[in-house]
Amino acid sequence: MEKRKLYMETYGCQMNFSDSQIVGSIMTDHEFEITENIADADLIFVNTCSIREHAEQRIRARLREFKRYKKINPGLKIGLLGCMAERLKEELLEQEQLVDMIVGPDSYRDLPRLLNIAETGQKAVNVILSMDETYADISPIHTKGVSSFISIMRGCENFCSYCVVPFTRGKERSRTPQTIVEEAQRLFNEGVREVTLLGQNVNSYNSEDGTSFAQLLEKVALVNPLLRVRFATSHPKDISNDLIKTIARHTNICKSIHLPVQSGSDRMLKLMNRKYTREWYLEKINTIKRIIPDCALSTDIIAGFSSESEEDHIETMELMKMVGYDYAFMFKYSERPNTLAAKKYKDDIDEEVKGRRLQEIIDLQQELSYQSNLKDIGKTFEVLVENISKKSKEEMSGRNSQNKVVVFPAQHHKQGDYVQVEVISCTTATLRGKVVN
Ligand code: 5AD
Ligand code: SF4
Repeated sequence: MEKRKLYMETYGCQMNFSDSQIVGSIMTDHEFEITENIADADLIFVNTCSIREHAEQRIRARLREFKRYKKINPGLKIGLLGCMAERLKEELLEQEQLVDMIVGPDSYRDLPRLLNIAETGQKAVNVILSMDETYADISPIHTKGVSSFISIMRGCENFCSYCVVPFTRGKERSRTPQTIVEEAQRLFNEGVREVTLLGQNVNSYNSEDGTSFAQLLEKVALVNPLLRVRFATSHPKDISNDLIKTIARHTNICKSIHLPVQSGSDRMLKLMNRKYTREWYLEKINTIKRIIPDCALSTDIIAGFSSESEEDHIETMELMKMVGYDYAFMFKYSERPNTLAAKKYKDDIDEEVKGRRLQEIIDLQQELSYQSNLKDIGKTFEVLVENISKKSKEEMSGRNSQNKVVVFPAQHHKQGDYVQVEVISCTTATLRGKVVN
């Protein structure tokens, strides 16, 4: 019998992409196959993001495009999964008539049952958040490639005042170290050479047997010296010196830390409920630089949070220069309903001012990234080969430990090989070099 076809689209963070692989695994165990071609689909799942209003608007616009597929195939069912489903619940069914299923991030095991309901013509909803669901026993389908995600914990209890995540993803819970190490081993055996341990805040990793995140990271690093290990994301308040030393100790733990600062102003940090000060953050950065001198640093920044003054904004830019970030994700503040900030603080910075400040931050980061890349000219890096370069067949590309993209002339190398590349030139976004081994 021909299998029914599921088409999936994923928006938002790495965790969502990882979740979609879990959903893929559940559905392929229930007589579905994945299709890349939406026109062939019997079922469409959209794994959604609520982090900023713009993300939700994009998804709603995309949903409207699905109308024509329902016209062609009246039996087609559409499921809305993830954070938007959790945030808006049944309300979404009224707003988006096209949608047949609303499924929150802790309810994916229930998908086959929900689909059965949807197939009788009823709407199906499950948005119950769980205290213990980690999907630990489900082997995510992973797309071909040298890199893979491993989700190690779910949820967030930090309640940064601007952030919707604690409401859409619920309480923190961690997988046991054994299931994580087993998954890393299985992926390595299948040819994966780089895993990223994922969680909303990996430093809150807290397994029942008392294993800390630093210890977990070490266990995964010991799976094989040829397996690179990365992790995302850390909250600065929880990054321990023990963790920094663990990263320094193992060559296969990548020398790259994403440490979102959000703002360089103490007043903003307080309003954001980030639980650290500018000085404390800079001190952490200094510790990292001292213990891991070649560590790349990246960050997230929000421009135009409630009551942000020009001085606050300048303090953010000054901090960016002091750290000298290699990379940054930068956003305009977007008020999210029901968050602490939405209840307590006014979204009072003009769109125009937000836009201008964001642009200044982006321009500064471009310059910092370029300066950082210039410093790499003449250095030799170990590069994990990922792809034939997008621009030319004669070139290959990969990443170094610092997570920078390195392009070099193609030889006999293939995906998953490690090569030594000496950097000859750079742009803001890439290093270019020659193979030296
Ligand atoms: N507005 C703008 N950016 C936000 N982020 C989280 N919530 C908001 C919001 N309401 C950003 C933060 C976070 C990243 C994942 O998204 O910088 O670190
Ligand atoms: Fe949101 Fe803060 Fe949790 Fe990150 S740590 S998901 S910004 S509440």
